Amino acid sequence: MSEAKEKKIFAANWKLHKNPDQTREFFKNFLPEAQGLDCEIYFFPPAVSLEAAAGSLKNSKVKFGSQNCYRESQGAFTGEISAQMVKDLGGQLILLGHSERRKIFGEQDVLIAEKLAHVQSLGLTPVFCIGETLEEREAQQVQSVLEKQIHVGLSKADAKKPLVVAYEPVWAIGTGKVATPAQVKETHALVHEVLLAIGFATAPILYGGSVKPDNSKELLQIPHVDGFLVGGASLEPASFLGIARS
Ligand code: PGA
Repeated sequence: MSEAKEKKIFAANWKLHKNPDQTREFFKNFLPEAQGLDCEIYFFPPAVSLEAAAGSLKNSKVKFGSQNCYRESQGAFTGEISAQMVKDLGGQLILLGHSERRKIFGEQDVLIAEKLAHVQSLGLTPVFCIGETLEEREAQQVQSVLEKQIHVGLSKADAKKPLVVAYEPVWAIGTGKVATPAQVKETHALVHEVLLAIGFATAPILYGGSVKPDNSKELLQIPHVDGFLVGGASLEPASFLGIARS
């Protein structure tokens, strides 16, 4: 097993939740409890709360970053987020290609590929999200959909630089409908094979989609599940700690 995969990764995607005060309050409760955990912990607060997260996490091993970025560091790009500015705040990660970005904001694979290469060029770690919709799964298109997302999304990436992949079936996100262990096993094996074939076998693969303290233990036993990307259950210290303790 590669060095990168030695520790399990628990990543919190807060989406559009928690202002700066709520962010500081969360970490005040979370950090003392997280001290003994032997794992990697990542937080993706909303952009407005990144500075608050940076302050709270200054002396801790917990890493943070933004939920998106643009492919340029600065310029006339109203409303965008600069990965360089996230880095300047002490952030080490950028979440990219989340299904809500793809679906609600129309992000295409090619743009995600450009952002991903940009993030890597700054020395930050992209957490690259992929996943099929329910219609695609029912039409037996899981393999072709994931292959395309991976092949295009990583087409400009550097295999020697850090990368984390998050497989999140769209139908399991925020629905309470977690993929079955058999589905997770089959799909993570597939994602691993596709990554292996193009030289990215060392990238840890996270599972995401309605992960909760009561299903995380079983899912974490599955081969090629190197951790989780957690939405709803990451908003309370107790439930996210419950997942990280599995
Ligand atoms: P969920 O979200 O845990 O609320 O399903 C996961 C995600 O969107 O990353």
